Amino acid sequence: RERVPFIFSLLLWDVRKLTTEPVDQYLASSAFSMTGMMTVKPYMETILGLLKSNHLDVLVSLIEDFLVNKEVMVCDKMGVRNSVAIKYCHLDDETGIQVSTKPATVNQFISACILLASICVKVERLDVVLEVSYRVLQMGKLNLSWTMLALHVFGSVCGDKLRFLKSCNLLMTTVRLVVLLLESTDTSSCLVSSYIQSNRPTAFPSCTQCVFDVDTVSIDVFISSLLDELDLCALSWNNHANSNEAITRHSSHSGSSGLEINCGESCNISKQAKFTEDTNYPAERDLCYFTEIISLLELFGNYMSCEWTYKNVVVRLLKILESCTCEEYSAALLVLVSQLGRFFIDDVGYETEAVVELRNKLAVLIGTSFTRSRSIPVQFSAIGALLSLFPLTFDKIVSSQTGPLSGPCVLQASQISEWFGQLSKENQSFARSFFS
Ligand SMILES: *[C@@H]1O[C@H](CO)[C@@H](O)[C@H](O)[C@H]1NC(C)=O
Ligand SMILES: *[C@@H]1O[C@H](CO)[C@@H](O)[C@H](O)[C@H]1NC(C)=O
Ligand SMILES: *[C@@H]1O[C@H](CO)[C@@H](O)[C@H](O)[C@H]1NC(C)=O
Repeated sequence: RERVPFIFSLLLWDVRKLTTEPVDQYLASSAFSMTGMMTVKPYMETILGLLKSNHLDVLVSLIEDFLVNKEVMVCDKMGVRNSVAIKYCHLDDETGIQVSTKPATVNQFISACILLASICVKVERLDVVLEVSYRVLQMGKLNLSWTMLALHVFGSVCGDKLRFLKSCNLLMTTVRLVVLLLESTDTSSCLVSSYIQSNRPTAFPSCTQCVFDVDTVSIDVFISSLLDELDLCALSWNNHANSNEAITRHSSHSGSSGLEINCGESCNISKQAKFTEDTNYPAERDLCYFTEIISLLELFGNYMSCEWTYKNVVVRLLKILESCTCEEYSAALLVLVSQLGRFFIDDVGYETEAVVELRNKLAVLIGTSFTRSRSIPVQFSAIGALLSLFPLTFDKIVSSQTGPLSGPCVLQASQISEWFGQLSKENQSFARSFFS
């Protein structure tokens, strides 16, 4: 296991030797021509052979971290230190070797992408490429050109193998639609967030004949079909709770977008999330599917406009929430609303029409018997969603020293402090630590 980082460095070094030509950062086409050179070399196979299959995860997460953080460690002998933007520096007194991190070059970045995709093709784990694509997109809003570069390298190394991955249909479609959205030259439709509108690199290579450019389903039809799935899950849970029957959704059916959906086989984007340990819990398998869809909606929310997302996604989420009797589903829906709310605030601020409206709707929801009839986790998620739309911190709102609050959100603020007031002391201190 300790050898894995070393193997990664070796592999990266080897791939880099193949790609020494300078690359134009914005021209993904250079990446495409380079990937042609990248046939899996025999030495690479040998090295991969050394990796036990369970070490593959370690290697993949190393590469993933690299793609997200875009930093390399450099070792220098004392005195020959490289002065380029060194952020972190550690000196080993005994060896006189200095370890520091510096920003990756575009060639290193591309090499790591090629490496990851080639390994995954080799071991037939294309689902991993998609999971990493998700993470890269999720974390990569601030460095869009590199994000797109990564996705196009994945696309060109994996080719059609990516497209025909049945079990990851929804994830692949999501990644594809987000790529096309970001590369769309049509500025008339206000689908993308204001951040993307003003920061979209002008020189994106447009995606023609790449693996993402297949015309199957439009973004609004797809998103509405994801929402249909959430609705369906909530409904079938409600029916199940009423009749004590096992949930009998078909394991595979056609979603309203016409895509085939495999309920049990999700792509594990949210595999880190630990839900209930109790395997007898009937909603567990479906909860995994449910949160998978929620993660996909969150990714769209990262890039799409507040107005569009509010009107087409959030309003429906709130509807589903009203009728949903499953605590876990409700909490998950509220966490999504809260996350989308945060995107809205980042993008357009506190006083945009959609934000004000959402704040009012959440306040109404919390004011009804909804909160009192729900478990503490659901109550916390609901309050958290409202707080995400607030210019004030939780501490300020509930602190008695601040005196009467003023400003546009004063009603909702007093609602939050009322809610806080009726909690037990123990749950109050839990709330303080949770929201601080
Ligand atoms: C993206 O990240 C790399 C590596 O940190 C950096 O060199 C590059 O300037 C960044 N690009 C943008 C547009 O921020
Ligand atoms: C998701 O994770 C489960 C358990 O870790 C695993 O059995 C399954 O094969 C994974 N699914 C995919 C598509 O990788
Ligand atoms: C905190 O809230 C939970 C859930 O409602 C409840 O079971 C628990 O008793 C509360 N704690 C106290 C000390 O009241």
